[in-house]
Amino acid sequence: MISSGHDERAIGIFDSGVGGLTVLREIRARLPGEHLIYLGDTARLPYGTKSPASVLQYARQAVSHLVLSDIKLLVVACNTASAVALAPLQDELAPLPVIGVVHPGARAAVAARPGGHHLVLATEATVRLGAYGKAIRSLDASAQVDELSCELLVALAEEGWTTGGVADAIVGEYLQPVLDTDDSDKISSIILGCTHFPLLRTPIRNFVGDAVSITDSASTTAAVVEQALRNRKLLRSESSAAFLQLRATDGARRFARVGGTFLGTDLQPHDIDLVDL
Ligand code: DGL
Repeated sequence: MISSGHDERAIGIFDSGVGGLTVLREIRARLPGEHLIYLGDTARLPYGTKSPASVLQYARQAVSHLVLSDIKLLVVACNTASAVALAPLQDELAPLPVIGVVHPGARAAVAARPGGHHLVLATEATVRLGAYGKAIRSLDASAQVDELSCELLVALAEEGWTTGGVADAIVGEYLQPVLDTDDSDKISSIILGCTHFPLLRTPIRNFVGDAVSITDSASTTAAVVEQALRNRKLLRSESSAAFLQLRATDGARRFARVGGTFLGTDLQPHDIDLVDL
């Protein structure tokens, strides 16, 4: 039962593109009474191959746009932007609560496999920064962490090729060399450390088998969002309908087509507002 607060302001959710809709979906399921404003910086996707300086600059611009809508909490629903920009954004936007996806994802993985050997699948930038490794080791000193950049999986998810021969082959190309290494049999956990990868859970599951846990950040992030709102008494009453605004910096048609898959509902181009940052 959601209670204690009537803050009508929306939650702002930001991603480099449509992938963060996997996080939005979980937030909406957990907090159906909350207004949500989602911004996908589709004009500049992917962030995962860009330098930290560019990602930080893009994130600042996107977030400045959302802040103009008087949001009560910001979710950086992009692993790359969380890895690069979470700490500066939290400093710059205080007292606005800013929640990233890396720490909640790490928590979910550690809870699933305490003392485990984790393999993080993420973008180049997230892997380069070792963001998940740091987060996991801060929670579980006995954990072992390997991180693997899988850029092509972003493109696969964007194309909607999430099952079938091509998806199986590309997942295998990435994972086979890791599984061929000496201590691979000890990998007990795979972390989907990129917003797009939950869509590829089936081929990844098929490849690694049932013994390995597969976790992502979406539902633990939604739980952290709920807790943050509850602690600050910022929850909205559930009694009246909540709105969902979808904004993008480019390509409403593509956003609707691909985003519909991520969100699990049918979207039309006119559902998306194009904005300039
Ligand atoms: N949203 C990004 C992430 O979670 C994936 C797409 C991109 O590279 O921009 O890391």
